Amino acid sequence: MTNKYTYFIANWKMFGNLKTLNSLNNVITFVKKFKKNKIKLIYCPPSTLLSPLNNKLKSTSIDLGAQNCHQGDSYGANTGQINSHMIKAVGAKYVILGHSENRELGENDSLINLKIKNSIKSGLKIIFCIGESLNQKRKKQTKKVLSNQISQGLKKIRNKKNIIIAYEPIWAIGSGLIPKGTEIFEIIKFIKKKVRGSKVLYGGSVNIKNINTLKKIHNVDGFLIGGASQNSKKFIDIIKKTFN
Ligand code: PGA
Repeated sequence: MTNKYTYFIANWKMFGNLKTLNSLNNVITFVKKFKKNKIKLIYCPPSTLLSPLNNKLKSTSIDLGAQNCHQGDSYGANTGQINSHMIKAVGAKYVILGHSENRELGENDSLINLKIKNSIKSGLKIIFCIGESLNQKRKKQTKKVLSNQISQGLKKIRNKKNIIIAYEPIWAIGSGLIPKGTEIFEIIKFIKKKVRGSKVLYGGSVNIKNINTLKKIHNVDGFLIGGASQNSKKFIDIIKKTFN
């Protein structure tokens, strides 16, 4: 880890309710005691929990993020959608965009590009997810795929200072598998060369067993954590182990 602080981003996906938020008390207490400036914690709950979680996190150093948003710049007749202004207004600072689970539902690079541009205009910071499928990895297309996702997704965005990139191999998400440390190092190096100045995180099955391997990869700026972030104890243990 080369940075001032390490990111730990909790992506709760389509899990959690008001009761679940109580489990965050442990995390809030833990963070208060933890070495300041060492970590940047961001919780991305489903949109139903953005407002109550914002209230809970108000006097803490933990930040709030949304998991996706509509591409539009204005309000409108879009049933079931929320825009980046609404996310900002509820107190969130971040939004995850380009997650493979949404790409699988049909989101393409140009749609993601529009979402990123409008979210930046709204004053949000972006957690931009990229990653290759197993098939693409087998065909040795990883760098080509990432390169495309970056150039299309970040098209006409000059200032990248509010963009954090999360490298998430699709085959690693929720599978318990991760790439070799040397592979992650190589890919992160490649991404940082393409998007100078951005922080680059790793995501995909980060857990208490593999964090020892992952923390040794010097150019990784932190982690985007799905499954293991839904359990406060596991999440805290991962953070502790990163610094042990
Ligand atoms: P996972 O999810 O940690 O459960 O693999 C990561 C993600 O999809 O962001």
